[in-house]
Formats: sequence, structure tokens, C-alpha cells
Amino acid sequence: MSKMLTSIKTEGDKIEIVNQLLLPHSTEYIQISTIEEAHDAIKSMKAVDIFFWKIRGAPAIASLAALAFAANLSNAIETSPAPSFLSSPDALQAHITPILDYLYTARPTAVNLGAAVRRIAKKFQSSKDAGKDVTAIAQGLVAEARLVSDEDYSRNLKMAENGGRWLVAFHTLLDGETLNVLTVCNTGSLATSGYGTALGLITYLSEHQQLGRAYFTQTTPYHQGSRLTALELQTLEIPSTMICDTMVGSLFQHHKIHAVAVGADRIARNGDTANKIGTYNAAVLAARHNIPFIVVAPISTVDLDIADGSKIPIEHRPPIEACLVRGALYPLRTDTDGRYQQAQVMITPPGLYTKEGSVYNPSFDVTPAELITAIVTEKGVAVRKEGEKAFDLRSIV
Ligand code: MRU
Repeated sequence: MSKMLTSIKTEGDKIEIVNQLLLPHSTEYIQISTIEEAHDAIKSMKAVDIFFWKIRGAPAIASLAALAFAANLSNAIETSPAPSFLSSPDALQAHITPILDYLYTARPTAVNLGAAVRRIAKKFQSSKDAGKDVTAIAQGLVAEARLVSDEDYSRNLKMAENGGRWLVAFHTLLDGETLNVLTVCNTGSLATSGYGTALGLITYLSEHQQLGRAYFTQTTPYHQGSRLTALELQTLEIPSTMICDTMVGSLFQHHKIHAVAVGADRIARNGDTANKIGTYNAAVLAARHNIPFIVVAPISTVDLDIADGSKIPIEHRPPIEACLVRGALYPLRTDTDGRYQQAQVMITPPGLYTKEGSVYNPSFDVTPAELITAIVTEKGVAVRKEGEKAFDLRSIV
């Protein structure tokens, strides 16, 4: 665990995030000093970093947004003379509402961001209704926003334990036997405030000598698997094998895989789950091969307002992102600072990305509940009943 990578570092109001665009070849932290910088790090659409996010992963996005909000307000509380929005609860509300709305717009699919924003807004309302003065309200909001990030780590440990124990029992694993688990995307400490969700489950099995091998897909076009999950598993010294996204069926045909474990960006009331593009393919193939398919996600990922997956907004990324591959130049060479030289390479005919309809680039897909065996949260494990197409999630939210 001491070897765990860190996506967000804080010291008081100072926030730094690891620039995931440069991983796994360079570990550089960027300071996030304003709400705009936090928004931009999540969305990263500026021409300088032509594509992709500096921070990603549903819980990490929510943590960064909440921490940036907390830092902004905490700085204001310490400013003398106090800014005018700290003159009354109404003035404070008029100040924070557009900030929360703006942060919420950074990315649409992951519900954790919306849950964090709603949690802060709810805290404002309850403090105002309780008749607190404006400074006390603001201080309460800072504390609440910081909790969004702080709570993430401990609930990840709980989820991993819940899911790991369930899987071991599912396979009636005997002493000395181990499990091989496939995962998609990156759901580890780089996608959360630490330990991870599905990758946390894999880490838990490894810590309990119950993991044979972790398999992971490259997860194109951002390569969360080959760039980030590979780095995390290597750092944790967990035996692992990378496969291309196209090789899941072959893997299931030729290797004993005991489970597929994935994270989630949003889970609808019936259990339909939005996660990184390619998750649905893995679920279809897992069903075909009778391999249990497990979703591991915090309660804040469950959106009870949405009846099924058809209502989940799916983010489509700019076409150019699917036409480029980013990484270190090969053969590897370093610059004068000892950093690997980075490059982005176009893998399509020039101009393909500019033609209307020539690139399809959804960032997420929705796996129907009927393909999911179990959904794990920090509260427990919900198992879909034999013959039923939907989950009853009441026991785990
Ligand atoms: O687009 P990303 O990289 O933010 O998508 C991340 C995923 O899909 C993860 O699997 C998901 O957020 C679960 S994270 C613990």
C-alpha cells in the first residue's frame, strides 16, 4: 500500500494533481489554484493540451472538484477585508451556486461529480435553515467538500473487502487456490482518492494471497489500461497481463478467468451500468463464457433518479482523440531534464477526423443489468436474482 500512486495531493488549501497525460513515462504534479483550473483539468479541452484529461476516473473527478471548491471558499474566509459574498447567507448562495453549476458541467457521465455538487448545495441549505451565520455556513461547506475526498479512500477499502470476500465465497475457494480477474480501464488509486474500486478488489485479493493474475485491457483510445492500470499493477508488484481490447474473447477461450471486475461512472436504479467504452463487450463475452461480471462502485455512483441505462448521458469525445495515440517516443530517449520525450502520433489518414460522421467516439457504454452478476458498494453486495433482468439495489445504497 505504501507504494500506491497518488492522483491528488493536498497540503492545506494547496492542491496538486498528477498529470495523467504524461503517465506512465513521467510523474509530474500540476498545481490547481482556481476553480477554472480544476474545471479545465477535468475537461481539458484547451488547445495547448489538444486532447484528453489531466485527471479522470469518476471518484477522482468529484474529489478534485470538491477540493477546489473548498480551497476557493477557505481562501475567501481568510481574506481581510472579507469579500462581499460573505456578508450574508443569500450573498454566499449567489456566489457558490454558479461555481457548483460550472464544476458540474466539466464532464457529463460520471454521476459522482453531480453527487458531490448536490451534497455541498444540500449542506448550504441545511446550515442556512438552521439559522447559522454566514461564516459558520462557509466553514461548514469547506469541511463538507473536503469530506468528499477524504471519505473516498476508506470506502474503497470496504468495497474491495466486500467484493473480494464475495468472489472468494462464490468460487468456494480453498486454501492455496487463487483467482484470475480481468478488468477494464483504470479504477485504481489514479482514478480515486486511493486504493481504487475494481482495482481495489484485485489489490485486496492479492494482499490476501487469493489472486492468481490480473488481466487488463489496453482501453483505447485514452489507454487507461496500458498507461495507468499497467503502471499501478507494476508499482504494486501484482502479477498481471495486458491484452488488447480485441482479445477478450480469445482470453476467455484460452485461459481460466474467474471474474471480470469493473468500476462504474453511473449505475441506474435497475442496475444498468455506464462505464468505460469496451465494458459492454467484456460483459457480453463474460456471459457467453459463464464468467461472473462484477461492478464495484461507491454508493454515490448509484443514480436512483434514473430508471434504466437508456437515460444515462453518454459523453462523446472529439473525433481527433480517436485518431491520435499519445506516449513516449520509441526507441525511448530522454530530454536534458531526464524526462522521456512525449509524442502524439496520428494513426488515421490526415483530415479523417474533420469529416462529419467518419469517427464514432463515445467515451462510455452501458452494460445492461441482465449481464451483471453482482454490484458491490461500501455497504454490501447485491446479487441479481436468477432469471431476473434487474437488480434490487435497496440493500446496498
Ligand atoms: O473517462 P475516464 O477515464 O474518466 O473513465 C473512467 C472509468 O470509466 C472508470 O472505470 C470509472 O470512472 C470507474 S473509476 C473508479
